[in-house]
Amino acid sequence: MEQQRPLTVRPGNALKGVAKVPGDKSISHRAIILGAMSVGETRISGLLEGDDVLATARAAELFGAEVNRIAGGEWSIHGLGTGGFFEPLDVIDCGNSGTGARLLIGTISTMNLAATFTGDHSLRSRPMRRIVEPLARFGAQFHGRSGNYLPMTIRGASEPVPVRYDLPVASAQVKSAVLLAGLNAPGQTIVLERWPTRDHTERMLESFGASIKADRRNGGSEIILDGYPELTAQAITVPRDPSSAAFPLAAALITPGSEVRVNGVGVNPTRIGLFDTLREMGADLEFVNSRIVGGEPVADITARHSGLSGVEVPPERAVTMIDEYPILSVLAAFAEGKTLMRGIKELRVKETDRIDAMAKGLRSCGAEVEEQADQMAVHGQGPEGVIGGATCESKMDHRIAMSFICLGLAARSPVSVDDTSSISTSFPGFSELMAGLGAEFQQCGS
Ligand code: S3P
Repeated sequence: MEQQRPLTVRPGNALKGVAKVPGDKSISHRAIILGAMSVGETRISGLLEGDDVLATARAAELFGAEVNRIAGGEWSIHGLGTGGFFEPLDVIDCGNSGTGARLLIGTISTMNLAATFTGDHSLRSRPMRRIVEPLARFGAQFHGRSGNYLPMTIRGASEPVPVRYDLPVASAQVKSAVLLAGLNAPGQTIVLERWPTRDHTERMLESFGASIKADRRNGGSEIILDGYPELTAQAITVPRDPSSAAFPLAAALITPGSEVRVNGVGVNPTRIGLFDTLREMGADLEFVNSRIVGGEPVADITARHSGLSGVEVPPERAVTMIDEYPILSVLAAFAEGKTLMRGIKELRVKETDRIDAMAKGLRSCGAEVEEQADQMAVHGQGPEGVIGGATCESKMDHRIAMSFICLGLAARSPVSVDDTSSISTSFPGFSELMAGLGAEFQQCGS
């Protein structure tokens, strides 16, 4: 087990400069998986080299793809074609990654092979029934712990049938698992989603040559994929992750005298709910140089220290900012008035129960928080700011750890985070990057 890495943040320093945040985690997983399913060499630049994505790269190798790191962020994958994976000789360990596990299980569930998946303590307690249910309809068999938890052995369907699936939960992972399974099934696989979740799988499948179309209707969409496409290897440039960019940008918003820019951030409309919310709160955010990179919209974003006001975040926005509620709750603690976040029960089944983890840490720093099953309210302290002076528990969750570090940068007294080792799952080099902008840290014992 990895050693704990506590960290103390000293408030007071303004943050200034350009933050080179890593590549998008969702897109990085998908680039590896589709690269492994295509014919020829896929070249990826800007790949996130975080633990989660590295676990997916190792899995692709175990399934028989040739995966090579050429240089920092530059990777090459020689794929096996749709349905061409080999039965792995070892257990697939997805580490902390729900995305890696769910997408890979989807991918192999229509291949004639068996594989056993596991992960760390957190991943082994995350719900898998949500993918088992639709994937079993293709003909796959699942043998997991009771309640459908990892470790789980999957026997892929030898004669898959196509599936039409109405998503009962707003989840891009479930949608993607079904679509990836549909690649190796005959006919058309159809997914209906009532809330438009991130569409990176659909965009990337199209660029690899699959026939996929989405009919938008009543705010949702019907996605239709033709089975057995010939996927052709691609050159993929991964944009910087908006969910990671959120941390230095948010830290700048609450730390007096700050101005931070992040270039080349993914601004796919299915991912930018946080920025819409921040604008409503009065944040000084500037988007310039909007362009398309590798089929995804990107922009350069600058954040300057701002007085924020509390807002109500509507439930229908949750899918477009599902990973950003922890950092939003920190910003809300520095805003004037109450911020109410509704329709967020999915946060309870992330790497940890994120509503509970944020409520506890914020309260220990002097903020007033109310939580219910499906919502959270933070009563902001306004310009006086949050007291701080506490040790917050990260619960081994990268986004919780980074959120409390950002809180510490603007609090009145230093804030400690009990363990920051999980940050390497999505944002390797986070504390060094923040230090480069002016943040002051004290490692425990130094
Ligand atoms: C992801 C989808 C979201 C998100 C996760 C990444 C993806 O999960 O929270 O970090 O890459 O598809 P859900 O599908 O559970 O909402």
